[in-house]
Amino acid sequence: MPNNPYLDASVHWRIRSGTLDLHEAGYRSTAEAILSSGLATDVVGLISAGKEADVYLASYNGSPIAVKCYRLYRTSHKGGGPIKLDSMGWKAAKEYEMTFQAWKGGAKVPAPARRVENMFSMRYLGDETGPAPRLSDVRLEAPEKFLKVVMSGIAALAKAGVVHTDLSPYNILVHSGDPWFIDLSEALRVDRTGGVPWVTLTRAAEALSSGMSAVEKYFRKYGVEVEYEEFVRGLVDSLDRFGVMR
Ligand SMILES: Nc1ncnc2c1ncn2[C@@H]1O[C@H](COP(=O)(O)OP(=O)(O)OP(=O)(O)O)[C@@H](O)[C@H]1O
Ligand SMILES: [Mg+2]
Repeated sequence: MPNNPYLDASVHWRIRSGTLDLHEAGYRSTAEAILSSGLATDVVGLISAGKEADVYLASYNGSPIAVKCYRLYRTSHKGGGPIKLDSMGWKAAKEYEMTFQAWKGGAKVPAPARRVENMFSMRYLGDETGPAPRLSDVRLEAPEKFLKVVMSGIAALAKAGVVHTDLSPYNILVHSGDPWFIDLSEALRVDRTGGVPWVTLTRAAEALSSGMSAVEKYFRKYGVEVEYEEFVRGLVDSLDRFGVMR
């Protein structure tokens, strides 16, 4: 579902969940799970329904909060009943940990609050009129300047020890004029020893290149050129404490 405003103008986000009917399968049961987990005291509505997870706008004692819920069941394409996915708790845990690591290191990610099973809560990026738009849905007024901020945001993430492996204009939200990075479920920790540094850094280099190529494609629309090979090389070099990539 595209990130279009989920509430029409007549409905304010503070409206209680009970009065909204979003015609989304599983909406009510997920809303109940969010409330009984204690992650929120009110569920306002659905922000996004993705392949594996849904993101809800909720509130905790009156303050807005976003809750990402990995779905516990996936319908089998080969027929038969839905498959229960025990891995969803792990996915939520991993995304929570990665987001926490990035946030602790000062990167522009929504501050994570708590995780319970397959769900976690984080800072809501947006305002009363709706969630912050994705970069893919925004028409920038100063693209060149914004590109610089995106690149320093990616560098800040790496400095915090996190490389986004699914970077694209769909996973960057534009909030208060700044890029915010979301959807870190597949991210890579690049700050610890353990594992083979060469393997980790090779994966990091590939992820940074493919992420930057998605970013490049977006900025090409504005006629802005993105030279990212050197940027990626510089980042990997800064992460390469043992000099294994040289
Ligand atoms: N903290 C947040 N504040 C506001 N909106 C958010 C927040 N986190 C996510 N969203 C919205 O939810 C959408 C989906 O989030 P995200 O990219 O994390 O999951 P996803 O892409 O659906 O995951 P999947 O890969 O499982 O489909 C985002 O595009 C964004 O519009
Ligand atoms: Mg996403």
